[in-house]
Amino acid sequence: MRTIALSGTTGFLGCHLLARLLQQDCCVVALVRDAPARAAARIERALAFAGGGPENGSPVGGRVRIVQADLGAARLGLFGEVFDGLADEVDEVWHCAASTHLEADLATVSAVNVEGTRHMLELAAAGRRRPRFVHISTAYVAGGRTDCTVAEDDLDGSFGFMTPYEESKYQAELLVRAWARDGRRALVLRPSTLVTDKPLLPRGPRHPHSVLGLRLGRLASWGPDFLTRRFGVRPDGDGVFRVRLPGRPGSTTNIASVEYATDAVMRLTRDDDPAPGVVTRHVTHPVDTPASVWLEAMRSLVPWVEPVVVEGDVDATTLESFIVSLQPGGRRYGHLRRSYERGALDTAEARDGVSAPAALDVPYLVRTLNVPGNRRTSTLASA
Ligand SMILES: NC(=O)c1ccc[n+]([C@@H]2O[C@H](COP(=O)([O-])OP(=O)(O)OC[C@H]3O[C@@H](n4cnc5c(N)ncnc54)[C@H](OP(=O)(O)O)[C@@H]3O)[C@@H](O)[C@H]2O)c1
Repeated sequence: MRTIALSGTTGFLGCHLLARLLQQDCCVVALVRDAPARAAARIERALAFAGGGPENGSPVGGRVRIVQADLGAARLGLFGEVFDGLADEVDEVWHCAASTHLEADLATVSAVNVEGTRHMLELAAAGRRRPRFVHISTAYVAGGRTDCTVAEDDLDGSFGFMTPYEESKYQAELLVRAWARDGRRALVLRPSTLVTDKPLLPRGPRHPHSVLGLRLGRLASWGPDFLTRRFGVRPDGDGVFRVRLPGRPGSTTNIASVEYATDAVMRLTRDDDPAPGVVTRHVTHPVDTPASVWLEAMRSLVPWVEPVVVEGDVDATTLESFIVSLQPGGRRYGHLRRSYERGALDTAEARDGVSAPAALDVPYLVRTLNVPGNRRTSTLASA
């Protein structure tokens, strides 16, 4: 039975990875920041959300062992013998925890995303079994590049970054590459934006679209008069507020369901190349989603606001700034027309006889926004 140290088990992707590892012949050491009792309750909730955990009873205390660790501290803040014992015990170290706040400053996100990676690498370096390091990164380490196909081995900071989060994840990948130069093995996996249409659970993991969905749901329940009262503007004659959004016509974004991404991660981690070095793989949907499809999904929740994409600088009105602020990091991504090389995942899927997932359409994206369990949006479907 393999033993895997996994960070981020209480999060949106991490709980799905944990559920899948538990379906295999694995023991998992969950590295968490909470005290163990609270962490156990949170992991159980997160597993209930992810589904597909083990069939009999709770795994916590059985094949899931909780270790409270401080990602920001040297040797994860663990006592010497605890750290050394853990390092020697694990066959692999999977690092999924991160600060995913798109609006946070660089120092805040780096404390977790850069320093946390450094300390997880320390754990993997100390292990007698020379564990492979599986690092969950993001396709957005591509930074400011707009029109291109990003290669999997490409790691280039010269285009700048749209958010401090991206920059911190880029810095983390640099650390992983430097670590592996010492004859060690790392697999870097870069998911794109992850969503789900599964019901959310109270106090369970959330995803970026569910946050947007919650905000759109509130806006929908307040009605168009709210915008007039708050911003002193009236809708056009047809009752619709037209708001300009900065972007480019024809822009795309890559969105994948967390279920698909989890399958992809499990598929890609099976290819365990014994050669030292870093292997990097995009965990992306094979079809990029046009921004127009995405905007249509948002509009179906709030039909009296019509986004109009405009190129160049927008001297935004307060109403337009408000609408843009509903989507975390939203103002930055309307310019992208880039895709991601994913040949290795195509090959692995062909090997496993998996057919490509359908392109994401408006009804699916509406469901990711209007998720049951998201208070207020879940009532909209029937409104
Ligand atoms: N979701 C996406 O769309 C997406 C897309 C591309 C890549 N990714 C990457 O996928 C990974 C997982 O993302 P996610 O969506 O699952 O994020 P998430 O839901 O925000 O979960 C983040 C996880 O990291 C943990 N964490 C955060 N700060 C920590 C700290 N200081 N010490 C210990 N643990 C800490 C959280 O613990 P608590 O629960 O205690 O806060 C949680 O378990 C990240 O590496 C992210 O960069 C995500």
